Amino acid sequence: MKIAAVLAAALVASLGYTGSPVAVAADAAQPVVKSLRGDTPILSESSPGNFRQERDHAPAPRDYVQQPPLIPHTINNYQITKNFNKCMDCHAWSKAPETKATKVSLTHFKDREGTELSNISPRRYFCTQCHVPQTDATPLVGNTFQRAEGLR
Ligand code: HEC
Ligand code: HEC
Repeated sequence: MKIAAVLAAALVASLGYTGSPVAVAADAAQPVVKSLRGDTPILSESSPGNFRQERDHAPAPRDYVQQPPLIPHTINNYQITKNFNKCMDCHAWSKAPETKATKVSLTHFKDREGTELSNISPRRYFCTQCHVPQTDATPLVGNTFQRAEGLR
């Protein structure tokens, strides 16, 4: 009896967001909106989940040639603010010989008009917009993605 109740609760929890009060299902003209936020109200923060970043490892292979490479090390407490960019502490061209970090790509010195700059372009300043570390998690939704042909 108890086990059945626990299972039912787990089932409800795992399907939780499909029954979200936010989803509009009744009106056929309205698309059904499913959100990974679940039914957390928009003004509250949803739980970040329980995951750890991967340990530091060698650079990961890319899945397509234009991909921003994944970050192969943890970035806990690495701050990127208006005045300071922790990533550039190691990845700047001037620091790389000493830190052995990959130099930021040449493309990161171009502004949006294509003008070459002598320092990192403002549009490349917030590294984690594009570069992210990984965690060994179950995918949220299934997919059939395959590495680009030229890289297989
Ligand atoms: C303490 C120095 C240090 C800091 C700070 C640092 N990195 Fe790194 N990073 C490295 C080193 C060293 C490597 C190369 C690892 C290797 O080649 O084995 C690396 C590798 C990388 C790579 C992989 C490059 C490739 O070719 O696959 C990316 C992307 C990256 N870092 C992004 C970042 C970002 C974004 C930040 C800031 C959030 C950051 N790093 C902060 C030292 C650092
Ligand atoms: C707008 C997205 C974007 C931002 C922001 C960005 N990058 Fe990148 N980065 C890329 C892409 C895409 C590539 C791969 C293609 C290329 O080299 O441009 C790349 C390549 C790299 C590489 C690999 C260079 C190599 O020689 O293989 C490093 C290291 C790197 N970025 C570090 C950084 C750091 C550090 C920052 C922040 C100061 C940053 N990037 C900001 C998209 C971005």
